[in-house]
Amino acid sequence: MPTSQPKTIYLSEYRVPDFLVDHADLRFELFEDGARVHSSLSIRRNPDSREQGSALELNGDSLTLESVHLDGRQLAPGDYDDRGELLVVPSVPDAFELQVVTWIEPQNNTRLEGLYKSSGMFCTQCEAEGFRCITFFPDRPDVMARFRTRIEADKAAYPVLLSNGNPVDSGELDNGRHFVTWEDPFPKPSYLFALVAGDLVEKTDTFGTMSGREIDLRIYVEPRNAEKTAHAMDSLKRSMRWDEETYGREYDLDIFMIVAVDDFNMGAMENKGLNIFNSSCVLARPESETDMAFQRVEAIVAHEYFHNWSGNRVTCRDWFQLSLKEGFTVFRDSQFSADMGSPTVKRIEDATLLRTAQFAEDAGPMAHPVRPASYMEISNFYTLTIYEKGNEVVRMIHTLLGPERFRKGSDLYFERHDGQAVTTDDFVRAMEDASGRDLGQFRLWYEQAGTPVLAVEDDYDEASQVYRLTVTQSIPDTPGQSGKKPQHIPFALGLLDTKGADIPLTLAGEQSTGETTRVLELTETSHTFEFTGIASRPVPSLLRNFSAPVRVNYPWTRDQLMFLMSHDSDGFNRWDAGQRLAVEVIRELSGHAEAEVDPRLVEASRTLLNDREADQALVAKMLQLPTEAYLIELADKPDVQIIHHARERVLKVLATALREELLACYRRQQPAEPYQVTPEDVASRSLRNMALSWLLHIGDQEALTLALEQFEKATNMTDQAGALRALVNSPFEAERGQALEAFYQQWHQDPQVVEQWFSIQAASPVAGDLPSVRRLLEHEAFDWKNPNKIRSVVGAFAGQNLVHFHDQEGSGYQFLAETIRRLDDSNPQIAARLAAPLTRWRKFAHVYSEGMRKALESVRDKEGLSRDVYEIVHKSLAD
Ligand code: PHE
Ligand code: ZN
Repeated sequence: MPTSQPKTIYLSEYRVPDFLVDHADLRFELFEDGARVHSSLSIRRNPDSREQGSALELNGDSLTLESVHLDGRQLAPGDYDDRGELLVVPSVPDAFELQVVTWIEPQNNTRLEGLYKSSGMFCTQCEAEGFRCITFFPDRPDVMARFRTRIEADKAAYPVLLSNGNPVDSGELDNGRHFVTWEDPFPKPSYLFALVAGDLVEKTDTFGTMSGREIDLRIYVEPRNAEKTAHAMDSLKRSMRWDEETYGREYDLDIFMIVAVDDFNMGAMENKGLNIFNSSCVLARPESETDMAFQRVEAIVAHEYFHNWSGNRVTCRDWFQLSLKEGFTVFRDSQFSADMGSPTVKRIEDATLLRTAQFAEDAGPMAHPVRPASYMEISNFYTLTIYEKGNEVVRMIHTLLGPERFRKGSDLYFERHDGQAVTTDDFVRAMEDASGRDLGQFRLWYEQAGTPVLAVEDDYDEASQVYRLTVTQSIPDTPGQSGKKPQHIPFALGLLDTKGADIPLTLAGEQSTGETTRVLELTETSHTFEFTGIASRPVPSLLRNFSAPVRVNYPWTRDQLMFLMSHDSDGFNRWDAGQRLAVEVIRELSGHAEAEVDPRLVEASRTLLNDREADQALVAKMLQLPTEAYLIELADKPDVQIIHHARERVLKVLATALREELLACYRRQQPAEPYQVTPEDVASRSLRNMALSWLLHIGDQEALTLALEQFEKATNMTDQAGALRALVNSPFEAERGQALEAFYQQWHQDPQVVEQWFSIQAASPVAGDLPSVRRLLEHEAFDWKNPNKIRSVVGAFAGQNLVHFHDQEGSGYQFLAETIRRLDDSNPQIAARLAAPLTRWRKFAHVYSEGMRKALESVRDKEGLSRDVYEIVHKSLAD
C-alpha cells in the first residue's frame, strides 16, 4: 500500500528489457500455512538493450525472500538488495542461472492476485502483474520464457495438480504428498502462467483439429458442479471449429483445460492451455442458469479460447497495448456470437453496452484512448474503452477492408508476429501491408480519447432530384487532450423512399451501381455528399448497423422514426429508431407531471406486439424501453429522480393501454421443450417475461396468477427468475416476500443462483431501498471475500438501482463510499471497480453531484489507500 503518491507510468518511457529469461523452472511446495516457491531462471542480457552493464532487477510483491543463488553459489545479503517491490542484484554476468526461494501465504491472499485459495483449492491469477506476488521475476509481457512447473501437495486434499502445457512427470512423495510436473513448450510472458491444485472432478471430451490432431479437452470443477459443464464444453468445441474456419487458427497444445473457481476478480483468464474461469462464466444448466448466463458462458469460453492466438501466440509488448489482445479478441468473440445466434441482436447488445457505459467512460474523468499514454495502476485499465471501443476499432478496419482483405491482414499479423510481443501499431501495419490501404489517419482511433459526434444536415432539391447530406464531426476534449484532429470514420447509410423501400445510392459524378447501403468514409471535419436521381425527399437511415462508435445527431421527426421502425431494411436502425422515439417521449415527460405520453409510442408498441411475421428476436429488443442509465448518459445535468419517474410513467401507460395484447403475447410465447438457447426460443422467453413484468408493474391481478404459476412450475431459470423479478418489482407485497423466501429455500446451496437472488433484490426500485440492501449484506449467504457476492449486491445497487442509489440525501453514495473503504484493504481491484458510478459526479445536477463528490472525498481521505483506488479517486476529483 503506497504511503506516498503512486508513480505514473508513461508509454513514451518504454525501454526494451535489459535481461531476458529463456527458461523458468519452478517448484511449488504447497502447505496449509503457506507455500514455498523455488524458482530457477536462465537469464541473459538482452542484446537489444542499451544498458549492457545494468544491475538485474526483478519485480516482487508481498514475498518473503528465503535465499538467492547465482550459478549455484549462495549470495550473501550484501550481494543483493531486497527492496520488497524489487530484488536488485548489482553485479551479474552476461548469462547465468538465478535460483530464488520465496515464501508466500496463499491462504491469506484476499486480493486474489498471484497464488490464492478459493473454496479450498489453490489457484492463480497473474494478469496483469500478479506473477510478482508468486516469485521475483521480470514481470512484464515482453519477457517470454519457457516454463517448467513442478507442484507438490498433499495427495488426499489436492489430488489434481495442474499447470500450463503438458504433464511430463508425476509421482508419490513422503507424508502422503505427491507431485506433478508440467512443461509448456511455448515461450510466454509471466502473466499467462497458471497453477491449480484441488479436489476437482474432470469432464472430458476431445476435438479433432483441421490437421487431424486430437486434442484432450478437460473442464475441472468442484464435485457439486459436475452437472454444469456440458454447455461450456459444447461452446469450447464450437469455438475451436469456428476459429479454424474463420481465421484458419488451429489449437497448438495437446490438452486444453478450463477450471472453474468461485472467487475471481474478473470473468475469466486465458492462461496458456489452462484457462481459469469465474464459476459464473462457465457453469450453466437450464434449471439454474438463465438464457443470459448461457450466452455469457458461450461468449466468454470463446473469448478465452480465441486468446490462444490473439494474446498468447502473439502477445502485448507492454500494458499500453492491452487492446491489441482485448479489442481484437472481443471482436473475434462478437463475430462468433453473431454467427451462432442472431447477428442483429448481437449488434444491438454490443452497441447498447458501448453507448450506455463506454460513452459514459469516454465523457468522464477516467477517459483514455484505446491505447493509453499513461497509467498508475494497470488493473484500472481493463475498461470498456480497451475492450468494447477496442472491438469497434477492429470492426471498423474490417468494414474498411472488407472480409477478404481483413482475413489476409490477420493471417499476415499472426504469421509475422508469432511468438512475439508487439504493439497495436504492428497490428494496423499488418492490416495495411496485406490490403494496400493507408490507415495512417485511422490510427487516431488508438490515440485520441472521446466519442466523436456527427452532426448531420440535409437538404433536398426537387428540381434537380439531388439530395445533399452534410456530415460534420467533432471530438470533445478529454482529460489531458484538447483540440483533436478529425478521425477516419466509416459511415454506413441508406435512404428510404416514400414507400419505405431502399433507394439505390449514386453520388454525383458516379455510375449507378444499384447499391442501397454505402459506407462513406469521413476524414475531414465536414463533408457534403450529393446523391443524384432521388425522386422525392428521402428519409435517411444513418450509421447503419452502427458502423462506428460515434453519436449521430439528426433531427428526425417522430413520424419519420415510426416510419424507420417499420420499414428500414437495416435491423439495427429499425431498433435504433424505436429507441430514439422512446427517448424523446420519456424526455418530454421529464419534470412535466401532466404531460401526456405521445400516443405514437403506444401505437408503435402495439404494432410490434401484434406483428407475428417479424423476427421475434428483434421485436423483443425493440419493445425494451431505453434503460435509465442510457437516458442519464444522453442527458445534460440529469436529474435521476425525474428521469426514473418519467420512464416509470411511460411503462405504466404502455402496460395499461396494451393489456390485452400483452396477455395474448404471454399466452402465445411458449417455447417448446426441451430447453434450447436458440435465438427464437430466447426471444420467446424474453417476450413472455417482458409481458409479465409490464403487467405486474401495474398490479394486474390476472398477471399475478400467471406469475405465481410460472414461478412454481418453471423448468428453467429464465422463466423462474423472470417470474421472481416481475413479482419483486410489483406492488404485491405479500407475494413478493413469499416468492423471495421460497426461491432462497429452493436454491440456497447454489452460489450462482443465490447471486441472482441477491441482484434481483439489490437492483429493484421496489424491494431494493438502502435499508433492504444493507440487510442483504448481513444475510448468511453474503460474503465480503467473494467478488461475485459483492457485485451482486453492491454492484447491482449502485449500477442498476439508480433511483435508490441516487437518493437525494446522498445516503446511497455514502454507502458506496463506505463499501469501497472497507474493501480497499482486502481487495483493491474490486474496490476500485466499485467506485466507477461515483467518478462521473460532475455530469449530474447539483443536488446529486455534491453528494457524490463528498463520498469520493471520504474515500480519498482514507489512510493507506491502495494504488488502485488512489488513481480513480484522485483523477475523478482533479479539476
Ligand atoms: N484477460 C482476461 C480476459 O479478458 C481478463 C482479466 C484481466 C482477467 C485481469 C483477470 C485479470 O480475457
Ligand atoms: Zn480478454
